[in-house]
Amino acid sequence: MALVDQSPYTPGAGHNPPVLAGRDGLLRDWHLVLNDIVSSGRVRAQDMILAGPRGVGKTVTVSAFADLAKEQGFEVVNLQAVSGHAGLVEAVLQRARTRMAEEAGPWQRARKAFERVGGVNLSIAGIGAGISTRPSGALAAGLDAGTLADALATLAAEVRKDAHSGGLLITVDELQVASGPDLALLAATLHRLNVDHPSAPVLFAGTGLPFTPDALRKAGVTHPDRLFVLEPIPLTLQPGDARYAVVEPARRVGVAWTPEAAAVVVEASNGYPAHLQLFAHAIWTSAPGPDQITLGDVEAALPRVADMLERRTLGPRWDRISDRQMEFLAALALHGGRASTAAIAKTLGRSQQELSWLREELIEEGDVYAPKRGQLAMAVPLFNRFVLSHYERTRPEAATELLSLQEMIANAELDPSAAHAGGGHAAPRRAERNPPVATAQRRIWAAAFLSGGAPLPNGVGIHTVTQRS
Ligand SMILES: Nc1ncnc2c1ncn2[C@@H]1O[C@H](COP(=O)(O)OP(=O)(O)OP(=O)(O)O)[C@@H](O)[C@H]1O
Ligand SMILES: [Mg+2]
Repeated sequence: MALVDQSPYTPGAGHNPPVLAGRDGLLRDWHLVLNDIVSSGRVRAQDMILAGPRGVGKTVTVSAFADLAKEQGFEVVNLQAVSGHAGLVEAVLQRARTRMAEEAGPWQRARKAFERVGGVNLSIAGIGAGISTRPSGALAAGLDAGTLADALATLAAEVRKDAHSGGLLITVDELQVASGPDLALLAATLHRLNVDHPSAPVLFAGTGLPFTPDALRKAGVTHPDRLFVLEPIPLTLQPGDARYAVVEPARRVGVAWTPEAAAVVVEASNGYPAHLQLFAHAIWTSAPGPDQITLGDVEAALPRVADMLERRTLGPRWDRISDRQMEFLAALALHGGRASTAAIAKTLGRSQQELSWLREELIEEGDVYAPKRGQLAMAVPLFNRFVLSHYERTRPEAATELLSLQEMIANAELDPSAAHAGGGHAAPRRAERNPPVATAQRRIWAAAFLSGGAPLPNGVGIHTVTQRS
C-alpha cells in the first residue's frame, strides 16, 4: 500500500484486532459482570468460559475482558494451559513468586496465604524452577482447593485496598488441554470461593474448544453449566460484522475498500475471523493504493493468499492426519461440512459406534466440532473444499484401503446432479438445501480459488460453509 504501508490487520493466533467485530454484546455483558463483582463480590460472580472452534477469537476476546477488568482496577493473572507442562497451580505460584520479587504491594502482603498453597517459602530464590519441573497435576493432586481459595481471596482483598476498586481476575486460555486434576481443582477452588468467601472480588474467565464442558465433566466436575456461564463463540461472524472487521481498520487510517472488494473477502473467508484477518492483510499488502482497495486488487491477491493458506495451514494439517481421519473428513465434506453423525456413518458404510473414537479424536484435535448434539461440523470452513480436492490424490498413498468419494456418494445416496447446480454440494435427497442466495455466484467464485480452482472429482460439489454453532 503506497499511502499507508503498515497493514492494520492482525493475522495470527492471539493477535488483538483493531476492531473486535461482533462482540459488543458480549463485552457489555462482561462489563456488567465486573460491576457486580466490584459492588457485591463473589456472591454475584459469573465465571465465564468462551467455547468455540479454533480461530474464532476466544483468546482475543478474553484479552479484551482482561483489559476491561484492568480499567476497573483488577489485578489480572493470565494463564495458559499447556498440555504436558506444569499445572495451573504451579503457574499461579510462579506468578506469585515473580510478583513478590518485583514489588511491595498486594502480592507481597498476600505472601503467607500463597506459601500455604505451595507448602513452600516463596522468598527462597529458585523455587520457581523447583515448581515447574514437577509433573503436571502432581502438585494439584495433593492440593486443597480451600487453601487456594483463601490465597486468592486474600490477594483480591489486598488489591482492593490499593485500588479502592477491582479485585482479582484469573484467566486461563486453552482450558481443554489442562489436566483432569487441574480442571477439578480449578472448579473446586471457584466453588470454595463461593462458599467460604462470598464477598471476595474474585472472578474467572477461560477459553476452550467446544468440547471443554465435556473435558470438565470427565475431570469429575458434575455440572459445569452451573458453575460456569458457557458462552459459545460461533465459527463465523455475521456478514455485517465480518464486513465491519474488514472495512473499519482501513477506514481509520484513511483507506476505503470498495463494497465489492470487501464483499469478496467476507465471502471467501466465510466470515471466519482467522481467515478474514489473513485475507485482508495479504490483500492490503499487495494492493497498490494509495487510498482504495478494489475488486481488482482482491482478485489479483487471492490466488496467492489461497496458496499461502494451503502451504502453511491446510496442507500441513492434511499431511499429519491419519488415513481414517482423512476418510472421515472427506465424508463430512461431501455433506457440505456439516452433517449428523448418522449421515456420516451411512456415508462410510460403518456403524456410529465404530466411528465414535475417530469422531472423538477429530474433536479433540480441533478439526471438527459438535455444533449441537448428534451433529458434526468442519471447524475450519475452507478445509471443506481442500479435503474434497485433495482426497482422491492422497488416497492411493494411504496404508489402509479407503473408500473413494464415488463410493461414499453411493453409500449416502447423495444426489450427484445437485453438484452441478449453482455451486451446491452433492445434497442428501431429502435434506433441506441451502437457500439459493443472491450471493451464490460470488460464493462459487470465492470457493473456487482454493487449490487453484481445481475441478472437484465428477459428481462432487461443494458449498462454502457458513454455519454457526
Ligand atoms: N471479533 C473479531 N473481529 C476481527 N478479528 C478477529 C475477531 N476475533 C478474532 N479475530 C482475529 O482472528 C484470529 C484468531 O483469533 P484468536 O487467536 O483469538 O482465536 P482463538 O479462538 O483463540 O483460536 P485458537 O483456538 O486457535 O486459540 C486473530 O487473527 C484475530 O486477530
Ligand atoms: Mg486462542
